[in-house]
Amino acid sequence: MLTINIIGAGRLGKTLAKLAQQSGRYRIGAVLCRSLTAAQQACAFIGGGEPCDSLQALPAANLTLLAVPDGAIASVAAELAASGGLAAGSVAFHASGVGEAALLAPLAAQGVLCASLHPAFSFAEPARAVQGFAGTRCALEGDAAAFPSLQDFANAIGGVPFALAPGGKAAYHAALSIASNYLVTLHDLASRVAAQAGMTDEVAAAVLGGLMRQTLENTLTLGPQLALTGPIARGDAGTVAKHRAVLSTQDDALYCALGQATARLAATRLDASVQAGLQRVLQPALKA
Ligand SMILES: NC(=O)c1ccc[n+]([C@@H]2O[C@H](COP(=O)([O-])OP(=O)(O)OC[C@H]3O[C@@H](n4cnc5c(N)ncnc54)[C@H](OP(=O)(O)O)[C@@H]3O)[C@@H](O)[C@H]2O)c1
Repeated sequence: MLTINIIGAGRLGKTLAKLAQQSGRYRIGAVLCRSLTAAQQACAFIGGGEPCDSLQALPAANLTLLAVPDGAIASVAAELAASGGLAAGSVAFHASGVGEAALLAPLAAQGVLCASLHPAFSFAEPARAVQGFAGTRCALEGDAAAFPSLQDFANAIGGVPFALAPGGKAAYHAALSIASNYLVTLHDLASRVAAQAGMTDEVAAAVLGGLMRQTLENTLTLGPQLALTGPIARGDAGTVAKHRAVLSTQDDALYCALGQATARLAATRLDASVQAGLQRVLQPALKA
């Protein structure tokens, strides 16, 4: 059985540790938080592990998870390396979405195999997260020599591992942010514009919700090219101009930026003059 130490047993650390413990394939070694009380509470939740109060006191382990907040990963790794470090050939990993394995450089310099494993999951509450984690995609990045161990770990906790291209972490996280956060921003924009039409919140939620769900299913199933409908896909510059006329300056800027990207998406089905007309009507400076 492999041993894993947990440095930072918050929402993610507690969840992954409990899943690892439940898998029967890992023994939780030391659990370290900022306070011993937090480490004790984490061990009670995990159902395993030994509370630990300093990096120097960490016992040997096959894997070490640094599940501290992103801003603390580099300093904890440096402190860990300076306080005796980890065994060469063991695996150290963090779980940041955007931070690279390079945050663990002081450990890598000591021969530790360093990587990041980012589960695309929201760990709002550990008990709920443990129940819902199965099937979560886990992005691996860093030293490829660490990947076999981390693929095993991800599989053991119910995740589905996949590797990112070297240097791909920022693009990976940008993609997730666009897919998740900007979808919410679009919903907010559409709701505000719907209110201008005199639609109540209840009606707007039903109309926009139905359309958004249907469109999301279409684009996920058919792909963006085939899923795209509407005035820009039809090359209807007149309708675009009518939309722009009722939008606030701020909303119009967003409408134009998205409209130009949508026109590029629709370009293959529109002839050159129609494309040029759309680009003209979508220039922010042209607002009436
Ligand atoms: N939450 C999510 O949905 C999510 C999703 C994907 C990835 N992640 C990543 O997971 C990592 C942890 O995030 P989280 O949400 O689990 O954070 P969190 O709930 O705030 O927990 C952070 C833990 O780190 C401990 N800690 C902070 N500074 C420390 C230090 N210097 N030394 C030792 N322990 C320290 C804290 O100790 P105390 O308990 O004593 O305060 C706490 O247990 C981050 O890299 C984050 O990007 C999180």
